[in-house]
Amino acid sequence: MMRTHTCGELRAEDIGKTVSLTGWVNTRREHSQHLAFVDLRDHTGLVQCVVDNDVDVRSEYVLRITGTVEARFEGSENADLATGAIEVRECTVEVLNSATPPPFPMDERADDVDELIRLKHRYIDLRRHRMQKNLRIRSTVNTAIRNAMVAQDFVEVETPMLMPSTPEGAREFLVPSRQRPGSFYALPQSPQLYKQLLMVGGLDRYYQIARCLRDEDLRADRQYEFMQLDMEMSFVEVDDVLTAVERGVLDAAEAVTGERPPTIPRITWHYAMNTYGSDKPDLRFGVELKELTPIFAETEFKAFGTAESIKGINYPGGAAQFGRNKLDALTDFAKSNGAKGMVWLKVTDDGTLESPVAKFLSDAEKSALAAALEASPGDLLLIIADDWTTTCEVLGELRNRVARPPVSQGPYRYVWVVDFPLFVGIDRATGKPKPGHHPFCHPVPEDIPKMETDPMSVRAWAYDLVLNGWELGSGSIRIHDPALQSKVFELLGITTEEADKRFGFFLKPFAYGAPPHGGFAYGIDRLAAILAGEENIREVIAFPKPQSGLDPLTGAPTEVGSAHLEELGLRVLPPTE
Ligand code: AMO
Repeated sequence: MMRTHTCGELRAEDIGKTVSLTGWVNTRREHSQHLAFVDLRDHTGLVQCVVDNDVDVRSEYVLRITGTVEARFEGSENADLATGAIEVRECTVEVLNSATPPPFPMDERADDVDELIRLKHRYIDLRRHRMQKNLRIRSTVNTAIRNAMVAQDFVEVETPMLMPSTPEGAREFLVPSRQRPGSFYALPQSPQLYKQLLMVGGLDRYYQIARCLRDEDLRADRQYEFMQLDMEMSFVEVDDVLTAVERGVLDAAEAVTGERPPTIPRITWHYAMNTYGSDKPDLRFGVELKELTPIFAETEFKAFGTAESIKGINYPGGAAQFGRNKLDALTDFAKSNGAKGMVWLKVTDDGTLESPVAKFLSDAEKSALAAALEASPGDLLLIIADDWTTTCEVLGELRNRVARPPVSQGPYRYVWVVDFPLFVGIDRATGKPKPGHHPFCHPVPEDIPKMETDPMSVRAWAYDLVLNGWELGSGSIRIHDPALQSKVFELLGITTEEADKRFGFFLKPFAYGAPPHGGFAYGIDRLAAILAGEENIREVIAFPKPQSGLDPLTGAPTEVGSAHLEELGLRVLPPTE
C-alpha cells in the first residue's frame, strides 16, 4: 500500500499514528539548520511534514513520506488549514519523481495568469484546488442526474456520432468518408433525430449524457463540443417532461450546494418578453419593463408618436453612475441592438426629469411616466419606442447591461419559460415564417386553427429552462402526425420534395406508428459552471478550447499529410481572402 491516508484528512485524533502519505511538494521552507518543512499536497489538501534539511526536494516533486503524526507546537497551529493542528515528524522521504518547476504558481495567483498558459499546461492547472473542486462538482452533477433518470425509469441509449448532414441550426463538423470519397458524415449537433426514432422504436423513456458538436463561435457559455443531458418520453404532455427534467436538475443542485431549490416557477414566453425583454430572463433582480404606450397616445414628441410600443425601465440610483459618455455608449448599444434610438431621463433631487427630450414632453406625460416607472430622486429611466419585439428586446439588453450581477453571484433563480411562439419573424428571402425552435415542434392545439390566418400568434408546446439569465436547456412536444407535419412544412415554405430530401429518413418512420412524444436537453457544462460559481464553462471542462478554437495544449487543429488527404479524396484549396 503506497499510502495509509490522504494529505487533507489527518486531524488531532490521528496523533501518535504512523502514516504514509503521497503527493506533490507544495512548498519547502527551511526550519532550522537540520530541519525543513515540506507541505505535501494531493487532491484532498495539504499537510505539513518536518523533514531533514538535507532532503533535496523542490516544488512539484512527487513524494512518499512516512512519519508520525504529532501535535504542532503551541502557537504554531494553523486555523486556516484543515490539518493545521498536526504535523508529520520523523519523516522518511522517498522521491517518486522529480519535476521541472511549474510555469505558474499552484495557488489562486494562477487565476490571474493568461488563460492560454493555463490551458497549454492544463495537466498542471488541474492539480490546483479550483480545478479539482470544479471537476468534482461536475462529476457530482453527472451522478445526480444519472441517478434521477434511472429512478424515473429512463433507459440509457448511446446514439451514433457519425450521422448524415442535417440542417439543424448551427454549423456542423464534417468527417470525410474514406470508402466513399466526396461523401461526408456529420458529427451530431444533438441526438435529436435519433431520440425521436427511439420513441418510434418503443423505448418509451430515453436519456443520454450526450456529447454534441457545433461549429459555432466560442463564448463564455459555448464550446465546440459540450455535454447535454438529453431525454425523450412517449405518451406525455408538457407537464410530464418538465417534471422529469426538474427532478434531475434539482437533485444535481442539491447534491452540489446541499440545499434543494424550490419548485421551479413557470412563466410564458410572452410574459418573459413583455416583462424582462428576454426569453432567458434573469430573475435575480427587478428593473422590469413597464408599459408606457398609452401615456404617449396623444404626444407631440415625434419619436414616440408613431411607435407601436413604448416601454421603459427604471435603474434605481443610476443617475449618478451614468455621466454623458456612459449614456452615449448606452445609446449606441441600444442602436447596435436594433433600436432607432434611446431616451434617457434622470430624476433630480427635487423630482423633476432631466433629459435632452424633456422639453418635448408635456407635464402630464412626465408625471404619468414618473408614476409608471415608480421614479424617485437619483433614478435613471431608459425608454425605447419601436415595434413590440424591438422595444422588448432592446430594453431587455439594457436591463442586463445596467443591472445584471455576474452569473455566478447567487442566488440561484431557475425559471421555466413555456409557450414559445411556433414561428418567429419572417424569412426575408422566402416571405414565409421562420420556425421558432425547429420545424418539428407541436403547435398548441387550440391555436392550430390560427396557423394560416395569424401564424405569428400560434404558440408551440415548446419550453426552455433558464438559470440566472443563462439558457440551461430547451425542448418541446413533437409533431407525431404526418398530416400536421406537412401543414407546418407548407407554412414554412418547405415543399414535399424538399422535406423528403432533407428529413426523409427521419420522417418516413413516423408513418409506422409514431407515439405522441416530447423531450428536452440541457447543457451540463452550463449547469456545472453556475453551480461551481464560474462565469465561463471552460472552468468546468477538463480540456476546453479557448476562444480562438486553437488548442494550445495539443496544437489541434493540425494539418495532415498529403497521403492522408489523398486517401480521403480531399485536396486543400489555398485560403480565400
Ligand atoms: P438546444 O440547441 O437548445 O436544444 O441545446 C440544448 C442545450 O445545450 C446547451 N448548448 C451548449 N452548451 C455549450 N456549448 C454550446 N455550443 C451549446 N449549444 C447548446 C445549452 C442548450 O440550452 N435537440 C434540442 C433539445 C430538444 O428539443 O430536445 C437541442 O439540442 O445549455
